[in-house]
Amino acid sequence: MNEYSEKVIIDEDEIKRRVAELVISIADDCPGGDLVVIGILKGSFIFLADMLRLMYLHNLRPQVDFMILSSYGSSTIPSTMIKIERDLSVNIEGKFALVVDDILDTGRTMLYVKERLKWLEPKMIKTCVLLDKPARRKVEMKADYVGFEVEDRFVVGYGLDFNGYYRERPYVAVLEEQPEAE
Ligand code: IMP
Ligand code: MG
Repeated sequence: MNEYSEKVIIDEDEIKRRVAELVISIADDCPGGDLVVIGILKGSFIFLADMLRLMYLHNLRPQVDFMILSSYGSSTIPSTMIKIERDLSVNIEGKFALVVDDILDTGRTMLYVKERLKWLEPKMIKTCVLLDKPARRKVEMKADYVGFEVEDRFVVGYGLDFNGYYRERPYVAVLEEQPEAE
């Protein structure tokens, strides 16, 4: 197996600052303070938890729920099929729904979730991602709140994984392949 080294592109302090700004923007758009925060697992859990812990400072009263989605495809055919593995259990009818994911890549996941949630008749649906990779977009999708725009490189950390690893890193990094030892 090849070894990878990590190059940090967004450090812990930058993330902290930006997360605080995002929560302020969300609070500005959410008069009354009631909202349902919907995390897309697994990638969103760290970002979501950090945002959530700042919400009481801005008089937000979040309920929290999670969705698990899986996408189907192969390495040659980019995945276009998305399936819900776990659906919402909190009622969002007439409420402010905030969908949180780690990254907006092709945009397919977020578009699918938005379309699905519309049927549940929330008052408003807003979308929030830590990272946005606009160069990769395959469908028309823009998030309402974006932490950072990143280049078209595979990133890990702060919830984002590579083969299930690296999610626990407190920063966002790109992986660089190390030449194999002789
Ligand atoms: P989308 O439907 O293509 O926008 O896919 C978004 C999902 O793909 C994210 O929730 C991530 O789980 C995964 N993903 C996309 N790009 C990256 C990356 O650079 N690193 C880790 N996961 C990624
Ligand atoms: Mg994900």
